[in-house]
Amino acid sequence: MPESRKEPKSKYTADRNIPGAFEGETVTRRRFMTLTTHAAGGIATAAVLLPALGFAAGSAIFERAPVIWTPVGKPDDFPDDNYLPRVVTLTQGIGEVGKATVYVRRFNPEFDAQEGMPAPPETDAPVIALSSRCMHFGCPVRWTAAAERFICPCHGGVYGFDGKVDGGPPVRPLDRFYTEVRGNELWLGPRYSVNEELKRFSPRDPAEPLDGIGQYLYPSRPTIRKLSGT
Ligand code: FES
Repeated sequence: MPESRKEPKSKYTADRNIPGAFEGETVTRRRFMTLTTHAAGGIATAAVLLPALGFAAGSAIFERAPVIWTPVGKPDDFPDDNYLPRVVTLTQGIGEVGKATVYVRRFNPEFDAQEGMPAPPETDAPVIALSSRCMHFGCPVRWTAAAERFICPCHGGVYGFDGKVDGGPPVRPLDRFYTEVRGNELWLGPRYSVNEELKRFSPRDPAEPLDGIGQYLYPSRPTIRKLSGT
């Protein structure tokens, strides 16, 4: 008996009697749409997943800069009702660009120990050290003693004595610096950010709010931590 051989399946849809097929077509429209949808889904998933993985793995991949501490004088050199400017180095090796002005005063219980305010950790010196970088777009703010306010010349941002926003477009209080007393000397360390309750967060860029959902929408990036020495 002759052996029956199975005919190989044609690659053309018309040969396979698929409804709606036309000459020369090798992929059905249904199959084509399915593949296109899967590809679009894959691209959308990657667009969400890859940045998240980048954030998660970032601190392990990016090299951390050394933490820089700068001596700025004796704690008693600073009044508790006025700020004195001090210059610290944020990034070494890039000259003046890597330096920043910090406004420093002694801890003032009248302003700094109010109910609901977080107490500073015991390692902190009894001083407040505020960044001069505006939390709108980063212009340098100036302490104006007569008005007891920090004023930003760029778009009219105003901050109160405690560095909280008093008016204008800034989205959060002025950043702060870690402080420490070593011997009889006050040292300023890395920058950190705060929300409206002055709760600490790892450093963020200007224009990144930290209250409500903002803290999740603007996570601290390794490159920012590198610039702030944390
Ligand atoms: S940069 Fe300070 S208010 Fe715009």
